[in-house]
Amino acid sequence: MSDAVGSVSNKYYPRSVLRFPNTRDGRSLHPTQKNLALIMWLMRTYSRRGHLIYDPFAGSGTTLVAAKRLGRRAVGVELEESHCEVAANRLLKEG
Ligand SMILES: C[S@@+](CC[C@H](N)C(=O)[O-])C[C@H]1O[C@@H](n2cnc3c(N)ncnc32)[C@H](O)[C@@H]1O
Repeated sequence: MSDAVGSVSNKYYPRSVLRFPNTRDGRSLHPTQKNLALIMWLMRTYSRRGHLIYDPFAGSGTTLVAAKRLGRRAVGVELEESHCEVAANRLLKEG
């Protein structure tokens, strides 16, 4: 799959609402954890492989996991140590 952001299309710039399941199913790692598939969709759409992604409110690290899976470099900042540990563990599992 190409990561290139090309001409305007429905694929990259949908004209309707994108629907992804929420993560409030009792198994989430953070109270406002974002859906990984949604973040990956956005990252694929608005960045390219090798780009640097910065998330100053990293929480459980969803953005960082997405970046790792998609070949982006990433820097995350998080205030709460417990959330940092969750994010670090998620990244470790990614290998
Ligand atoms: C909306 S949550 C992020 C959730 C994240 N996207 C995820 O999927 O888990 C915002 C996070 O920002 C953190 N935060 C709030 N103020 C901050 C600050 N000044 N510096 C760094 N992190 C901060 C909170 O602790 C919280 O975990």
